[in-house]
Amino acid sequence: MKLMRKFILMMGAPGVGKGTYSRMLSKDLKVPELSSGEELRKLPLNEDTVNIKEQMNRGELVDNEFVINLIENRLSRNTYDGGAILDGFPRNLYQAKYFDEKSKLDLVIKINLDEEIIVRKLLGRRVCEDCGKGYNICNIKEGEYDMEPLLPRKVHNKCDDCDGALIERKDDNEETIRQRIVLYNRMTQPLEEFYKSKGRILIFEPKRGLKDYPNLINLVRKEFDI
Ligand code: AP5
Ligand code: MG
Repeated sequence: MKLMRKFILMMGAPGVGKGTYSRMLSKDLKVPELSSGEELRKLPLNEDTVNIKEQMNRGELVDNEFVINLIENRLSRNTYDGGAILDGFPRNLYQAKYFDEKSKLDLVIKINLDEEIIVRKLLGRRVCEDCGKGYNICNIKEGEYDMEPLLPRKVHNKCDDCDGALIERKDDNEETIRQRIVLYNRMTQPLEEFYKSKGRILIFEPKRGLKDYPNLINLVRKEFDI
């Protein structure tokens, strides 16, 4: 397979699977992922970040300048010389226009999922408190949806990779989830039109959980002719 030097944006409402599918694509395409949410969560709590952490816990977007500086700093690292799978950035028109002036996106992957399914999935999400790996205890079998839980394979409630404890994310309570979805619809969804007018956008609608992943990787390979 040819080595990819690309910027791909994963776009979609909270809980659609941006992080989950980014990690899988990153392995297969050999392009590192960069999640703005993960980078923000990794920042230590101190007087410079206390407001940021509070905004995140309330489900609000954090300050544009702060996120832009953070992402630019990360992208300047050698790891990203060959591009990145971006998860969660750009997330509003200001960030999209800013990024567009610096680097072009080669592909936008927009993931669509029913809102009530999203809420159930986010309430069932568990993450490893040490390495951040994601799991899910919720089992959705209804209509055309068949999404199995993603449980640890080795020990109940412990991360398969590092044995860390599985916990809930602070912004995964129903009130905050609904607030994140409202903000997504207002601030981020308009980027779909912005990117459609610029070039390549691929729409992906998973209904069968991870079993849909082969469709996604095939679509991406076709886009890049690899
Ligand atoms: P962020 O971390 O980006 O959160 P989000 O957009 O709300 O998205 P999530 O991480 O909740 O969902 P996801 O789509 O990654 O889904 P996942 O793969 O986990 O941002 C957090 C906060 O940071 C924001 O609210 C904001 O404050 C701030 N922020 C970040 N970027 C910013 C920016 N650019 N500007 C300003 N502020 C910013 O999947 C969800 C669950 O479903 C998981 O449990 C997973 O295991 C499960 N699952 C996923 N896919 C499947 C599947 N196929 N089958 C079964 N289960 C599945
Ligand atoms: Mg995520």
